[in-house]
Amino acid sequence: MMKKAKKTSEAILKVEGKEVVLPVICGTEGEKAVDISTLRKSTGLITIDPGFANTANCCSQITYIDGEKGILRYRGIPITELAAKVSFVDVAYLLVHGTLPTESERIDFSNLLNYNSLLHEDMRHFFDHFPKGAHPMHILSTMVNAMAAFYPTVDVTTTARNIERSCARVISIVRTIAAFAYKKSIGEPIVYPRHDLSYCANFLNMMFDSPVKPYRISPEAVRLLNVLFIIHADHEQNCSTTAVRAIGSAQANLYSTIAAGVSALSGPLHGGANQAVIEQLRMIQADGDVAKFIRKAKDKNDPFRLMGFGHRVYKTYDPRAEIVRKECENYLAASGINDPLLDIAHRIEDIARQDSYFVDRGLYPNVDFYTGILYRAMGIPENMFTVMFALARLPGWVAHWREMIGDETKIVRPRQIYTGRTLSEVSAEVADFEPPALII
Ligand code: SDX
Repeated sequence: MMKKAKKTSEAILKVEGKEVVLPVICGTEGEKAVDISTLRKSTGLITIDPGFANTANCCSQITYIDGEKGILRYRGIPITELAAKVSFVDVAYLLVHGTLPTESERIDFSNLLNYNSLLHEDMRHFFDHFPKGAHPMHILSTMVNAMAAFYPTVDVTTTARNIERSCARVISIVRTIAAFAYKKSIGEPIVYPRHDLSYCANFLNMMFDSPVKPYRISPEAVRLLNVLFIIHADHEQNCSTTAVRAIGSAQANLYSTIAAGVSALSGPLHGGANQAVIEQLRMIQADGDVAKFIRKAKDKNDPFRLMGFGHRVYKTYDPRAEIVRKECENYLAASGINDPLLDIAHRIEDIARQDSYFVDRGLYPNVDFYTGILYRAMGIPENMFTVMFALARLPGWVAHWREMIGDETKIVRPRQIYTGRTLSEVSAEVADFEPPALII
């Protein structure tokens, strides 16, 4: 049962001669909200908040963000601690189950992920029918949704054991699908997951191993991938997690629900930004004039936006971007890689952090600004960058789905304010309408 936020005070709303008292609730970190769940019944009024920038859809115990202070914690633990000390599988367990695993819990969870890492063999043939050049995010969302056909019995009525196994399938098989999609896209034979490799080492091996050129697993690449996956693992009610909660609230199959999260994440304003950043940096590099693009980003009449900059919640440096920037700089230096796109990214950040347009709006690098440069250096192909984000976010989506089905969640069905034609505006049109002669 979800721990409810406590009522701590009241708000009085006076409108059109009516006065209504609404409870104010407070979360464990001091966030407060006016509970408007009785508003329409008592006043006939609803509220409107495009993009829900000021509206909470739920109470949640999974992730806490303080956008003004640049704080991000999973189940209360700062991501800086998690990125430095634990593995991505530990963080997946933490997000889904609420605490870090004991040694025996870690072994059980790793075994469950391992036993559920193989894609159904009949699903392998699906890859043969995607058009050449299909974006891996579109392949991923299609294949994840298809899992609902192969594993249909995953809904809110299923057993706890089946939910456990299904959540492991999401976290593990989707990783296999991602690697298979990449191999198919380059015409190489797929590489199966191995029981003797860790989650991240397995993914790198499935991506890069080849019968003619065995992949030497680099411990540093495995460590880096753990860090990158950890910092992307959850981010409270972002667009794709909200999609997962909305689809899941209709009690849709878990895999169809996760497929919706993958689809939402593919957008360039959301997870697709990490690929868009590299494309933008390359365009700026070709042009050579960084200042011109800063001017374009500030110009209200220009649709150009600095990709990887700005955030709905963070109005200071995204703590994840801090971690990625440092890892990126260290890895490129240690690898002797001199990437001009990193120099351009640094230049953009330096200019923006001195410019009142960005500072006044709280526009700083977000998680996507440096991630692609690091993925590039690690040999991850650009069209897989957002897939990497999706793989990392799987435990977060699964955790929110489980939290939601464990609560007495109502189906997500927001209201609207209708601004279309009125009956009087259409009556003449209907009266004068000449129906076509009956076509047999
Ligand atoms: C992710 O929500 C999450 O948690 C998402 C995420 C996660 O982990 O799940 O953190 C992952 O999606 C990160 C964001 C990746 N997207 C991008 O990097 C795309 C570029 N960023 C922008 O499109 C924008 O900043 C958003 C979409 C991220 C946030 O948009 P908002 O909150 O709706 O902000 P807004 O558009 O209302 O902007 C406020 C002001 C506007 O100027 P004014 O009208 O006040 O004059 O800031 C300006 C905007 O024009 N602005 C930008 C800008 N982002 C906002 N100006 C130039 N460049 C930008 N990138």
